[in-house]
Amino acid sequence: MGRCCFYTVGTLSLLLLVTSVTLLVARVFQKAVEQTIQKNIVLKNGTDTFDSWEKPPLPVYTQFYFFNVTNPEEILQGETPQVTEVGPYTYRELRDKANIQFGDNGTTISAVSNKAYVFERELSIGDPKADLIRTLNIPVVTAMEWAQNRFLRGIIEAMMKAYEQKMFVTHTVHDLLWGYKDELLSLISVFKPDISPYFGLFYGKNGTNDGDYVFLTGEDSYLNFTKIVEWNGKKSLSWWGTEKCNMINGTNGDSFHPLITKDEILYVFPSDFCRSVFLTFSGFENIQGLPAYRYKVPAEILANTSDNAGFCIPEGNCLGSGVLNISICKNGAPIIMSFPHFYQADEKFVSAIAGMHPNEENDETFVDINPLTGIILRAAKKFQVNVYVRKFDDFVETGNMRTLVFPVMYLNESIVIDKESAERLKSVMNNAMIITNIPYVIMALGVLFGIIFTGLACRGQGAMDEGTADERAPLIRT
Ligand SMILES: *[C@@H]1O[C@H](CO)[C@@H](O)[C@H](O)[C@H]1NC(C)=O
Ligand SMILES: *[C@@H]1O[C@H](CO)[C@@H](O)[C@H](O)[C@H]1NC(C)=O
Ligand SMILES: *[C@@H]1O[C@H](CO)[C@@H](O)[C@H](O)[C@H]1NC(C)=O
Ligand SMILES: *[C@@H]1O[C@H](CO)[C@@H](O)[C@H](O)[C@H]1NC(C)=O
Ligand SMILES: *[C@@H]1O[C@H](CO)[C@@H](O)[C@H](O)[C@H]1NC(C)=O
Ligand SMILES: *[C@@H]1O[C@H](CO)[C@@H](O)[C@H](O)[C@H]1NC(C)=O
Ligand SMILES: *[C@@H]1O[C@H](CO)[C@@H](O)[C@H](O)[C@H]1NC(C)=O
Ligand SMILES: *[C@@H]1O[C@H](CO)[C@@H](O)[C@H](O)[C@H]1NC(C)=O
Ligand SMILES: *[C@@H]1O[C@H](CO)[C@@H](O)[C@H](O)[C@H]1NC(C)=O
Repeated sequence: MGRCCFYTVGTLSLLLLVTSVTLLVARVFQKAVEQTIQKNIVLKNGTDTFDSWEKPPLPVYTQFYFFNVTNPEEILQGETPQVTEVGPYTYRELRDKANIQFGDNGTTISAVSNKAYVFERELSIGDPKADLIRTLNIPVVTAMEWAQNRFLRGIIEAMMKAYEQKMFVTHTVHDLLWGYKDELLSLISVFKPDISPYFGLFYGKNGTNDGDYVFLTGEDSYLNFTKIVEWNGKKSLSWWGTEKCNMINGTNGDSFHPLITKDEILYVFPSDFCRSVFLTFSGFENIQGLPAYRYKVPAEILANTSDNAGFCIPEGNCLGSGVLNISICKNGAPIIMSFPHFYQADEKFVSAIAGMHPNEENDETFVDINPLTGIILRAAKKFQVNVYVRKFDDFVETGNMRTLVFPVMYLNESIVIDKESAERLKSVMNNAMIITNIPYVIMALGVLFGIIFTGLACRGQGAMDEGTADERAPLIRT
């Protein structure tokens, strides 16, 4: 009887150790967890994943900061512009998806993404309907550019002569964002009814969407979760100079696939940027006790490189690193995108304006993603809207101005996971951790039995004591 127990303990110990090592090497439990996640994170009607995609539960805030011009007269005489930053004016975004339709046996889904903006007084510096900002007269600068391209040239020249227009105007924050009726545009719209008499940086963007999307649901592969396949009926853009630059890559940035790895490049297509961009891994973060990978938009995105040559249009017309001419996707308005304060741009853009102080912490776009589930724990998308201005001989309004990429506004669209959602995600992660740790439990048992076995073996060297072996017997049976 004692002998029998002795060998049973030994065999059991060996078996448990071999089993645990096999499970670990074959990653059986790890794979089971990963497969469960891959199956669950798919856009399917009635699932949690679908519900939170349709109506994102976390609040998203957009903060606007304006550059108030302090020396308009001097700028017209060719001096360096001086600006002071005013903000934030914070709006909470209300988001939901509409016109949802599944296609291709559940592998694709088409939808529009509606966004409305509600002002948050407590998170803002002032009242957007009262605070005044002096900035460039963007409709007038746009009309002058139209005239250079021989679009409505005669009409614009006549109007500019007949109606005195200023290069700098003062409007409320609310009007600059959500639109005001502009005198010049109103006159032009009489001749060209498709031109709106209203102008605003976010005019027509409250309660509307940025176009029709077709996404992959992740049914065919988890790597394709919410990947864009079509935008406004097209599989690629047509504005830029090369096929690569015109590609619509990745997701829209509101979601990412699960089981993300460090060496992955995350592609996103933010439609307001008029092009696809990518993010690369930059470090580890911890948000409310949850592990995250931080991905950042690298400087290469807007650098003057051969990869980006296709964004310099007309061909060869590169403005330098850190700026993107999106005039072509803004109806000919000379809009130049950059990061806030010309972060990661050529020094010439920064020094051309007094009051620009770029720094990594404030001006960088990043997203912190939980690597297991792909869920966004924190993110901040930041960009600056600038206007390209220069002196025109045929428009006296431009005076003696320098050629400038003139900053008007920048924004920070951000999201942070709340406590409640973090707790829920933590319990999911704990379950996953328990399952993946089962092989270690088995291994620990194997070691325990190994110790007992060794103990018994040592005793066996002396006189075999039946009583002691009997006492230990129940241990083995359970
Ligand atoms: C999802 O299912 C509900 C109830 O079965 C149905 O009313 C709804 O139309 C479905 N949604 C889509 C997008 O198919
Ligand atoms: C949907 O699945 C069926 C059967 O698997 C197949 O015959 C059909 O071609 C699929 N349709 C599409 C649009 O993929
Ligand atoms: C946007 O629309 C919503 C809902 O219609 C409204 O409550 C909100 O005040 C609007 N925001 C702005 C900035 O006009
Ligand atoms: C912006 O500048 C104008 C002109 O100097 C001034 O009247 C206005 O109060 C400034 N706006 C803010 C919000 O400081
Ligand atoms: C979906 O994912 C698979 C496997 O990763 C890939 O081969 C395929 O091209 C993807 N489909 C699309 C439309 O991107
Ligand atoms: C889109 O992705 C491809 C690789 O899949 C890359 O070569 C291309 O440069 C990307 N385009 C943009 C605009 O990011
Ligand atoms: C962009 O890079 C090219 C090639 O390196 C260089 O010739 C050109 O001067 C650069 N353009 C600007 C605006 O910096
Ligand atoms: C910006 O792009 C537009 C449209 O392609 C072009 O007409 C304009 O000359 C460009 N502006 C600059 C400053 O390169
Ligand atoms: C704006 O960006 C910073 C990161 O640079 C972030 O900490 C901040 O929370 C963001 N948004 C808001 C609403 O403050």
